[in-house]
Amino acid sequence: MKGIILAAGSGTRLYPASLPISKILLPVYDKPMIYYPITTLMLAGIKDILIITNPYDIENFKRVLGDGSKLGVKFSYEIQNEPKGIAESFIIGEKFIGKESVALILGDNIFHGFGFSTMLKMVGMKNKGATIFGYRVKDPERFGVVEFDDKGQAISIEEKPKNPKSDFAVTGLYFYDNKVVEYAKNLKPSDRGELEITDINKIYLKENKLKVEILGRGFAWLDTGTTESLLQASNFVSAMEINTGMKISCIEEVAYRMGYISKQDLSDLAKNFKNGYGEYLQRIVIKN
Ligand code: DAU
Repeated sequence: MKGIILAAGSGTRLYPASLPISKILLPVYDKPMIYYPITTLMLAGIKDILIITNPYDIENFKRVLGDGSKLGVKFSYEIQNEPKGIAESFIIGEKFIGKESVALILGDNIFHGFGFSTMLKMVGMKNKGATIFGYRVKDPERFGVVEFDDKGQAISIEEKPKNPKSDFAVTGLYFYDNKVVEYAKNLKPSDRGELEITDINKIYLKENKLKVEILGRGFAWLDTGTTESLLQASNFVSAMEINTGMKISCIEEVAYRMGYISKQDLSDLAKNFKNGYGEYLQRIVIKN
């Protein structure tokens, strides 16, 4: 399975904070925002990742992440010139995806919760149909919204409905079989001029091939869209990390735990950081 991170937005809602650099490279507590979606894909067993950026930020992403070899993964890069919609990812990534299935994650989506790695591993092994994730929110009208029947089966999906049929938002993490490329190529832009990911999900739903996993109570799906929510996300990560002594979405640690790099590799990476981050990595080397 291939992975795509869509990180092409300009983050205008965060201006002037995101004027100098892509919002997706801004820190969420102790690491750049993109570390969070990267580890989500890595935990799903995905090693081949395409990062889609806007034309202005591509060099910054390359500088920060390189080709991924230090983490035992492969990063490649493509440009989205204008925000023509989330589903355009599959057109931009057509060659990269090839004949494989693909997971897409939005660069500003942060997930954290017990059992998530296990869930991701299971979903990452599927290569038929689609899997998306539902999360209860207080303002569903801001999102794609999924409605369920009595048996918990998804029966409708709407993009930013005025009158939401449920409180379940569709999160920005999507797993599809290879048919998604053809579906994306045949989409028509919506009224807001975008190729909508919700229209892709509607096709899978119509074909009875859409699985919606619910991320339950106690699970965190964090928004980073506004200055306030970005600060809250940082506060959340800081509280979790300080309380548990474990880092959330530390890419080097995840690479090691997934078996993508050796203990020696991790120890070498740790030496690049002459601070608490490096000490944390060294602790992982010693204790595991
Ligand atoms: O976050 C989950 C929601 O993401 C889903 O519930 C919705 O169904 C889905 O449409 C999307 O909602 P938004 O339309 O509000 O997403 P937004 O336009 O804020 O874009 C999400 C991220 O993707 C953001 O960081 C910008 C980036 N993006 C977006 C578009 C449309 C791109 O890089 N390129 C694009 O063309």
